[in-house]
Amino acid sequence: MKSVSLVAAAIVLAGLSGSARAADEAAVARGAYLAAAGDCEACHTDKKSDGAPLAGGRPLVTPFGTFYAPNITPDPSTGIGKWTLDDFRRALREGKNEHGAYYYPVFPFTSFTGITDRDAADIFAYLQSVPAVEHRAPHNEVKFPFGWRFLMIGWRTLFFNEGPLQPVVGQSEEWNRGRYLAEAVAHCQECHTPRNFLGGLDRAHAYAGNLHGPDGNEAPDITSHKKDGIGDWSIEDLVEVLKTGTTPDGDNVAQGMGDVVDAAAKLTDADRRAIAVYITSLPPLPQTPK
Ligand code: HEC
Ligand code: HEC
Repeated sequence: MKSVSLVAAAIVLAGLSGSARAADEAAVARGAYLAAAGDCEACHTDKKSDGAPLAGGRPLVTPFGTFYAPNITPDPSTGIGKWTLDDFRRALREGKNEHGAYYYPVFPFTSFTGITDRDAADIFAYLQSVPAVEHRAPHNEVKFPFGWRFLMIGWRTLFFNEGPLQPVVGQSEEWNRGRYLAEAVAHCQECHTPRNFLGGLDRAHAYAGNLHGPDGNEAPDITSHKKDGIGDWSIEDLVEVLKTGTTPDGDNVAQGMGDVVDAAAKLTDADRRAIAVYITSLPPLPQTPK
């Protein structure tokens, strides 16, 4: 009898570890989807030099200097292989590294702070599952006086509202899903909202366009303003841009938005539509003046 129950126990245990593995795989798959939506690869991969995915970034030119996104593969010495989930959550949601030093806001943690615990854990599971690559990203070239990370304390008091994002009561589930994806994960504001002289997002002009967007490109007003924004667009028009990059005038969006479309094209139809439902509901604001 005893051996039978041991066998039974062994079967139960095997079943458990099997389902634990299935749970891990599900987490990695969800994480991969969210990492695509958040376009981690766009900044963390040096495509121009044929760099390995996520092994350290292309140069990001901003008015505050040139930044290089670090290696976020699981390499223990040059990547985040030694990180715990807490280290990762602190980086993504609080904008602090494992020693408590502050990141520069060119890493869009001001948006990622809205990401839920579960989604952060799944993104981490995914990052830990990609091939480890040994590669050190170049040092940031930050302009005076922004080179002192501790200055970010003042900056953060002014411009940082720590998440995660809470659903808005009274709005539909679809709208809330769209808001979560647009605000927290796909970080649309990081380009479409102007920044003040310290680089903080000027939320009073949310989505009203940024003339000095990443790499000097102009990101247009995408509020529902009829003349300056996309007030004439239907939800389907916006879904189409997110899926194919083609606007209602038959143009193709380029520059930074090309990467965003590559990312959004990987989403489900339901998620693209949710983003469009949310964005088309934004109050009209005239284009941010020059
Ligand atoms: C717009 C460009 C950009 C995008 C998009 C981006 N990052 Fe980053 N990330 C950066 C930069 C730049 C830094 C370094 C900031 C600094 O030096 O203060 C960074 C830092 C990090 C760090 C800290 C690594 C370390 O070694 O300290 C992690 C973790 C990270 N990013 C994860 C992600 C994840 C996950 C995503 C996608 C959900 C993502 N990033 C999307 C630019 C980006
Ligand atoms: C990396 C910066 C960046 C991010 C992030 C970004 N955009 Fe854009 N977006 C741009 C730029 C730059 C353009 C202008 C492209 C052009 O003129 O070819 C643009 C254009 C657009 C347009 C076309 C507007 C018009 O009048 O033709 C729409 C719509 C749009 N973005 C929506 C979004 C949404 C929704 C998100 C989030 C899911 C998003 N963008 C995230 C940079 C960005």
